[in-house]
Amino acid sequence: MEDLSIYIHIPFCNSKCYYCDFISFTGQENKVEAYISSLITELSLYKKDLKDYKIKTIFIGGGTPSAIDPIYIYRVLDYLYSNFNTHEDMEVSIELNPGTLSLEKLNIYKQAGINRVSIGLQTFNNNILGSLGRRHHAEEFFSSLDMVKEVGFNNINVDLIFGLPDQNLTDGMIDITTLVQLGVHHISYYSLIIEPNTPMYKWHQEGKLHLMDEDSERKLYHQVKEFLKYEGYVHYEISNFSLDGYQCKHNMVYWNIKPYLGVGLSSHSYLMGKRFWNTSKLNDYLDSLSEGNLPVEDEELISKEIEIAEYCIFGLRLIQGINKREFFNRFGVDLRDIYGHTIEKHKKAGLLIEDDRYLRLTDRGLDLANLVEVDFLP
Ligand SMILES: C[S@@+](CC[C@H](N)C(=O)[O-])C[C@H]1O[C@@H](n2cnc3c(N)ncnc32)[C@H](O)[C@@H]1O
Ligand code: SF4
Repeated sequence: MEDLSIYIHIPFCNSKCYYCDFISFTGQENKVEAYISSLITELSLYKKDLKDYKIKTIFIGGGTPSAIDPIYIYRVLDYLYSNFNTHEDMEVSIELNPGTLSLEKLNIYKQAGINRVSIGLQTFNNNILGSLGRRHHAEEFFSSLDMVKEVGFNNINVDLIFGLPDQNLTDGMIDITTLVQLGVHHISYYSLIIEPNTPMYKWHQEGKLHLMDEDSERKLYHQVKEFLKYEGYVHYEISNFSLDGYQCKHNMVYWNIKPYLGVGLSSHSYLMGKRFWNTSKLNDYLDSLSEGNLPVEDEELISKEIEIAEYCIFGLRLIQGINKREFFNRFGVDLRDIYGHTIEKHKKAGLLIEDDRYLRLTDRGLDLANLVEVDFLP
């Protein structure tokens, strides 16, 4: 049986952060019940086709999954466990927002088989949290983390964003040193992306944001990398660090281009040589499923050429790089036969480095990853 990962999208938030372009809604609590029933219908429509797969990881993301009643999360997971093949040692993750938790809620997650939690903190600086449109303060993060530990979760990720408006190098280092003292197992450290169609994009266009310059942003990233290494964290993907053995198995599936099914609004899937994705319109999603139809908006057949390019682009985001033997085993061709010229060009520029087993980005290459990646496109 082939391994499968499942992504479940929960598109509800208590408020919309100014930088965020993920598909999520506020003030739609009256649709939660119908949404969860639709999710279960959607899963039921895949049940027959996926009978030869075995679920290895599940990720419940959003939006804010912890904004809705935990019994809904329990219901969806219970359906999955009862109707699909599952591995005994499955990784089951959920995204949580500070200020939305209680011991009771976390206990229901535990009973539902969730064994990894991912808390969105972004920064400890309360002024900056306010200017991002976050509803919580650092203090609520501390109490959320205490609760998560009290209930017995022992695989905890925290998301930070750096390069935030009004953040300087010192603020950035305070965030990471404070977090490390709390002993979390995994840290996702994202560089702020100013996404179109967000309030922050508009303010940026109007010149109203005070962002650190690019050199300072890179300096902060390098200092954080050094500090985390010193503290025993393994840097395993451009934006991800973990204590030994706590890499996120679900995200590794995306980065290694292995099969996954996404259910829920706007979710993407990669399965049976196809990439397909759901509608982003809530009413269309609910209507399709109430008529017993999949809410798939479109699909793309993945040619071998595209699969190879994606494998390389994601592989280079991993700090260990592309495993050349695995590449050969998967595609039946040598990496150099396809990309020899590109590899030489970027090695000369000091952006790629190679040994017998791996091809990877150098430290400088990690800063300029986009430049290298475009040369791997077909
Ligand atoms: C899908 S979001 C949801 C997490 C959760 N709702 C929260 O806000 O805490 C996952 C993570 O993506 C990151 N993120 C979202 N928008 C971003 C942006 N524009 N730039 C960088 N990171 C972003 C944040 O760190 C966030 O915690
Ligand atoms: S960052 Fe999280 S809480 Fe904020 S709008 Fe996006 S999904 Fe919702």
